[in-house]
Amino acid sequence: MPRTFRHSLLVVLMLAFIPASVLNNFATPLPPAAPQAAAQDSLYKRLGGYDALAAVTDDFLGRLATDPKEGRFFVGLSTDSKTRVRQHVVDFLCVATGGPCKYTGRDMETAHTGLNITEDDWTIAVKALGDTLNKFKVPAREQGEVVGAIAPLKSKIVGR
Ligand code: HEM
Repeated sequence: MPRTFRHSLLVVLMLAFIPASVLNNFATPLPPAAPQAAAQDSLYKRLGGYDALAAVTDDFLGRLATDPKEGRFFVGLSTDSKTRVRQHVVDFLCVATGGPCKYTGRDMETAHTGLNITEDDWTIAVKALGDTLNKFKVPAREQGEVVGAIAPLKSKIVGR
């Protein structure tokens, strides 16, 4: 048997006894299963982007609108007005969390002045937001950052 052929045969026989799982380690690496947000990404991205924020907004506004005490704020709004407010809240949260959106609504003071929102209303709204974030299984770190982004707005929304 020629020397080179004997050598090739030996290599083939050796490969035949190496488990596929080991050989696979040398194959072209697969791309990551799914794009995952990294710790240094914007809060917007870590929350899951626009669709996630829209879902959070719908759930949060749904809780407020059906709350026995908060529902009064949304009585008398046309469907179109509700849709406009909802869209403005989504875009507001997008900007507040570092997303690539533009907020075209009114500033918080103008939008809430005359509504007479009280401390109690605020407490109920913050609780409702927490319930929403828990429902969507938002991790504690991101929940803290969302509340941190909204807390400074209180003086522009409450008691006006
Ligand atoms: C107790 C808490 C709150 C109540 C009862 C409340 C109620 C309302 C109501 C009734 C409107 C519609 C006003 C109108 O169209 O004339 C409104 C608009 C809005 N609210 Fe609130 N709000 C509260 C807290 C917040 C918070 C925490 C945010 C921040 C994310 C927020 C963001 C907005 C935005 C972006 C608009 C739309 C402004 C526009 O369309 O120009 N609100 N809110």
